[in-house]
Amino acid sequence: MNQSQPQQGVGSSRGVRLEDINLSFGKTHVLKGINLEIESGEFFAFLGPSGCGKTTLLRLIAGFEAAQSGKVIIGEQEVSHLPPWRRELGMVFQSYALWPHMTVRKNVAFGLEERRLPRREINRRVDQALDLVGLLALSERRPNQLSGGQQQRVALARTIVIEPKVLLLDEPLSNLDAKLRVQMRLELRQLQRKLSLTTIFVTHDQEEANTTSDRIAVINDGIVQQIGSPIELYDNPANLFVAKFLGVANVIDGALVEADGQVYFHSSDASVKVPINGQSAGSASIVFRPQNLTIRRQAAKPPNGATRLEGTVDHKEFLGSIIRYRVKVGRHFVLVDKAHQRGAEALPEGAPVAIYLNPEQVIKLVE
Ligand SMILES: Nc1ncnc2c1ncn2[C@@H]1O[C@H](COP(=O)(O)OP(=O)(O)O)[C@@H](O)[C@H]1O
Ligand SMILES: [Mg+2]
Repeated sequence: MNQSQPQQGVGSSRGVRLEDINLSFGKTHVLKGINLEIESGEFFAFLGPSGCGKTTLLRLIAGFEAAQSGKVIIGEQEVSHLPPWRRELGMVFQSYALWPHMTVRKNVAFGLEERRLPRREINRRVDQALDLVGLLALSERRPNQLSGGQQQRVALARTIVIEPKVLLLDEPLSNLDAKLRVQMRLELRQLQRKLSLTTIFVTHDQEEANTTSDRIAVINDGIVQQIGSPIELYDNPANLFVAKFLGVANVIDGALVEADGQVYFHSSDASVKVPINGQSAGSASIVFRPQNLTIRRQAAKPPNGATRLEGTVDHKEFLGSIIRYRVKVGRHFVLVDKAHQRGAEALPEGAPVAIYLNPEQVIKLVE
């Protein structure tokens, strides 16, 4: 890809603000009081399970849906009542919707020809866009002569060539096989960086959101659960839904109890005592990640300051870099990841083990 040419779109990217959005289809309330602000140049993901309202929210921003209440603001301008073509956005759909009978070049030029730009200008911009996505050499092919990843790049080139102020992507990688998805998400990120183009990326795949995005809005059932950087969300989830959606989470339910003038988390089942500051007594859960636990045979000496749980190995999976143990602790199952070292033996199923958790690695949730 050519680095020396002036980049299109640079500096003209805009932010997006959503204020108090409520949208229903008939009696179904799909988007419920959505407020969020996406900064100019940011790569922002809408992450959530299928049916939570991601596509509807993206289509609302694009102008293909209308909300019953609330505002869509792009840059400084409220666009809630503008049609899609007046919003200066580019959208890439899940199905790329390329013209099968047109060459790559024609597909990319189409939007500019519709706008009746001068031929020289069209050629210049098409070349630039194809160069950006690394397809200049394939510009005379038709879509059916391209791989899935190349078709994806054509769809991207066709969108960025019109120099949108915001790029909207609805699960753009879902038609690709696993390996290609990993490659394309990196390319997408690099392209976005190069253009400094505000990008909203819809996905149900937490890994895709984590690897591409500056910030993520986790959505469930039409409600924004939490907004933050991938690491912020993983380390400090606001609720159980976010904790579980962002990765593997061990959850133990219990209660906050007062003892010695301090508030502790207590579960009779698992006997976890973790000091909790600034909370009053009541029911609560703790969450901890598999990689933050240490697993040893029960007889082994505990590490300093750690909380100990006892159980038996119920199941183990060798995953190459780690062994993931499922340990039965009282009525709970706890997953523990242990980094695998060459030649190390796994603990056998049925073995009595102790699990240690460092209280600092425990996420406390009061629901
Ligand atoms: N045009 C429509 N008419 C009625 N219901 C719709 C329409 N589009 C989407 N829905 C419903 O709105 C909800 C959210 O859908 P969608 O935004 O497509 O979710 P996601 O993209 O997160 O999978 C779903 O329950 C879906 O069935
Ligand atoms: Mg969708």
